[in-house]
Amino acid sequence: MIYLVTGGAGFIGANFLNYIVPKQKDDIFINIDNLGYSGNLLNVENIESHENYHFRNVDIQDYNGLKQVFSEWNPDVIIHFAAESHVDRSILSPLHFMKTNILGTFNLLELARNFWKDKEHCLFHHVSTDEVYGSLKESGYFTETTPYHPNSPYSASKASSDHLVRAYFHTYDLPVTISNCSNNYGPYQFPEKLIPMTLSNFLNGKPIPIYGNGQNIRDWLYVEDHCQAIWHIIHNSEVGETYNVGGNNELTNLEVVRVIADNLSAFTGVDSSRYLEQITYVKDRPGHDFRYAIDASKIKNTLGWSPEETIESGMKKTVKWYLDHQDWIEKVSSGDYQGWIKLNYSNREVGNR
Ligand code: NAD
Ligand code: DAU
Repeated sequence: MIYLVTGGAGFIGANFLNYIVPKQKDDIFINIDNLGYSGNLLNVENIESHENYHFRNVDIQDYNGLKQVFSEWNPDVIIHFAAESHVDRSILSPLHFMKTNILGTFNLLELARNFWKDKEHCLFHHVSTDEVYGSLKESGYFTETTPYHPNSPYSASKASSDHLVRAYFHTYDLPVTISNCSNNYGPYQFPEKLIPMTLSNFLNGKPIPIYGNGQNIRDWLYVEDHCQAIWHIIHNSEVGETYNVGGNNELTNLEVVRVIADNLSAFTGVDSSRYLEQITYVKDRPGHDFRYAIDASKIKNTLGWSPEETIESGMKKTVKWYLDHQDWIEKVSSGDYQGWIKLNYSNREVGNR
């Protein structure tokens, strides 16, 4: 089989490739990525010498560039990770999100439709997010039939791409599957996101910016569990199906920061209360969704997937990885990153609660 993996130099795509390429030696994996600010070839350096792995620097907004890759490899399966993925960036510059997440997905669907006219076994798997469902109150869960209610430019662009994928299945019989996953954490996550940013700032004695009162809730899943869920879907699902994927690990943002502090303290010997003094409350994210929580019964019952890591085991691995790879954080924190931190955090008034 030939797998075309988009966004394979980013956090989840790289974890997917690092996990699967060494195991599936008879399959070929083509990673296409435009190496934007969150994509880095350092994230896939462990597999770059594998004979079944190839990288092409292509922007998914570039139809002709993508067409060349399709002509060269004629892939059987597309696993579509590439996206602009950070909610705060979508609030400050939404256009990139529309171009990559909507137009980029459209380009890939069009090429698949044209190239797969006579192909018998092929699949387009679209990697999406639980944020398309909007925000939950204290109770209840997102299921696959929860109506879409995206609240940020990021989630609206992902919802649009989900709808396009579904439309290509219904209109053109394109074989597709979709997964909507909760918040991932683990190695190679770009340090703009809550967990790697907290870890990095704890280690460097910098403030930990907590939006609002820190009581917003996310359902955390260790990234390799997400990768295994995607592999299960690709190989065992009927076409046209969609699956919610989540870890059943609901935590407030303040609880997440405390779990990180406790784990870090176990490695460094620094009292966790010292780390927690770095918490700084800042102005809330506009339109901040209160709670996400996934009901993953469908993928568990029909495909037999379940997460292997708990928040305790997953966070221990994650903290150890970042401690062992502090040079990675430095290398990926380029000029663009420093500019972003200034832009996102400079006009949030600072306070303490
Ligand atoms: P990321 O930002 O770490 O990685 C995205 C990758 O896509 C990067 O390598 C980037 O260079 C690449 N990319 C961006 N625009 C591109 C373009 N125009 N052409 C080619 N490549 C491009 O994001 P991530 O967290 O790894 O997310 C991957 C996918 O998973 C996204 O579709 C996201 O919506 C989805 N998702 C993420 C989470 C999460 O918690 N991180 C949860 C559920 C779903
Ligand atoms: O739910 C899945 C989604 O999870 C994915 O689709 C997105 O790609 C991914 O980025 C993530 O979105 P979130 O907005 O939930 O993740 P983020 O790490 O940005 O924020 C997690 C929570 O922490 C959220 O409630 C906002 C809060 N936060 C975040 C940052 C960056 C802070 O309090 N301070 C911060 O500086």
